[in-house]
Amino acid sequence: MKILGIETSCDETSAAVVADGVSVLSNVIASQVEIHARFGGVVPEVASRRHVELIMPTIQEALDKAGCALHDIDCIGVINRPGLIGALIVGVAAAKTIAYAAKIPLVAVHHIEAHIYANWLTAADIQFPLICLVVSGGHSDLIYMSDHGKYEILARTRDDAAGECFDKCARAIGLGYPGGPEIDRLAKEGNSHSVKFPRAKVGDTLDFSFSGLKTAVIRYIEGFAERPPLPDLAASFQAAIVDVLVDHTFKAAQERGVKLVMMAGGVAANSSLQAAMKARGKELGIVVNAPPPVLCTDNAAMTAAAAYFAQERGLYAGLDLDSFASQPIGERAEAM
Ligand code: KG4
Ligand code: ZN
Repeated sequence: MKILGIETSCDETSAAVVADGVSVLSNVIASQVEIHARFGGVVPEVASRRHVELIMPTIQEALDKAGCALHDIDCIGVINRPGLIGALIVGVAAAKTIAYAAKIPLVAVHHIEAHIYANWLTAADIQFPLICLVVSGGHSDLIYMSDHGKYEILARTRDDAAGECFDKCARAIGLGYPGGPEIDRLAKEGNSHSVKFPRAKVGDTLDFSFSGLKTAVIRYIEGFAERPPLPDLAASFQAAIVDVLVDHTFKAAQERGVKLVMMAGGVAANSSLQAAMKARGKELGIVVNAPPPVLCTDNAAMTAAAAYFAQERGLYAGLDLDSFASQPIGERAEAM
């Protein structure tokens, strides 16, 4: 079964063709990063307008690269929630138009669900139950999955998301947008023990809190007349985030007795986080799966993978499908 995936929830216009929920035939990502970088972050109205320009050529390119025409496509999966509303509407309008014109069934996908399903594109044998650490620009969640589509949120952030913290701290130290990849690169040359940044705890919960770390980084920079040594700062800051994410994830994994931990979202592309998660998993005898960076950050292949498993459960959407700026994972769009 071939699924056309469409993703326009933020600043990437992406379309992909995935076979049977696991084989990527094409995954075209038209990034708007350069357009937004000069503003230091995503400007929603600019993103929507650019999606309008890019959506049809991106879909055509994804079909061409997969060697498909529309009549080869069995189903369309589109992200309709959560995200920038004006950006989501562009992908959903394109998906509904194609679904109607070419008589192809439609599936609505939650953005976080799509990130999680990127794991099915890279791991042959995924067994439930499992725990997924979802860390992106808008989310830092620990999610327990007992089966396809069954999500229990064990922890979330009380303030900033991990990616937001990477981006805000990068901006504070004069790096470009998005800050995560820049900090990842700089940290490789730095000493992670050079500055002791806080590792926040939220009572005895597994929830995260990153706003104190952001403040600590800003205070630390203020103590210097000139820019402090950036590689050491980047490595120390990154270690503070990685330590907390790894500790909480494996606490949850041990409490729930799972044998598999998956990683998802843009921050899961972080090389130090991937290495630390795999090392801790090895110590504890828990398998860790992390998609390659291109499948961690926003893309449409993950959307098509999630849509495949949703259509197997009969979860089709109608042509009255709407877009939603916010909605928790696990609630179907059709139920709104
Ligand atoms: O999942 P994503 O592409 O978009 C959202 O759904 O938010 O995640 C984007 C976030 C940004 O905050 C970006 O700085 C971060 O992921 N990110 C990284 C890395 N690559 C992307 N953070 C740390 N290290 C990376 N290598
Ligand atoms: Zn995302």
